[in-house]
Amino acid sequence: MPIVAPSILSSDFTKLEEQIRLVEKGGAEWIHLDIMDGHFVPNLTFGSMLVSAVNKMTDLVLDTHLMIDNPDFFLEDFVKAGADFVTVHYEAVVHLNRTVNRIRELGAKAGVAINPSTPTDVLKEIVSDVDLVLVMSVNPGFGGQEFIDSAYRKLSEVKALIPKGKKVHIEVDGGVDPENASKLVNAGADVLVAGTSIFKSGDIPATVKKLKLA
Ligand code: DX5
Ligand code: ZN
Repeated sequence: MPIVAPSILSSDFTKLEEQIRLVEKGGAEWIHLDIMDGHFVPNLTFGSMLVSAVNKMTDLVLDTHLMIDNPDFFLEDFVKAGADFVTVHYEAVVHLNRTVNRIRELGAKAGVAINPSTPTDVLKEIVSDVDLVLVMSVNPGFGGQEFIDSAYRKLSEVKALIPKGKKVHIEVDGGVDPENASKLVNAGADVLVAGTSIFKSGDIPATVKKLKLA
């Protein structure tokens, strides 16, 4: 069964706590938090203050996805705010090994994300040093975009890169819904991020359950 990580980007912020209770009811294990800076991606969302607030609302694992330039400046803030996983973008970091080590030194799990146009080969030297690889199946910046099919192949490629016996989560993010979920799991994903398909579904717990049954 995959881990389901609802992205609160598509939730109703006027009743965030209620919406978190609903994903808990459906059996979600993680909450996905999309941090955008208006530079790395053409959109702005929220920072560590909201992560800290969510941390007070739930015991679920907090999965922070930093779509920001210079993430090194903010790693400590996010870990202090309660982030369990801190994922940075390959495309936004020059000294990726240093950044990943720093996340782990701070006491969090480290992830690396790749955009749809970035080949999986770039992960070869870093995959043994991370806890999670995030394959983007949309161009990061917005919820509700159409799924890009190359993600299936890329998930299988990432799975093949992970050394035998090493536990590295493979997460897919963007356009994930109950229709494509099982194909994504078969391709290698063990963490499904979903925003629109969960929060705009009309039945949040039932949609989380459907994704878990993928
Ligand atoms: C996109 C974000 C995603 C997004 C997913 O930049 O990283 O996490 O919220 O949203 P949906 O599921 O609506 O594509
Ligand atoms: Zn995300």
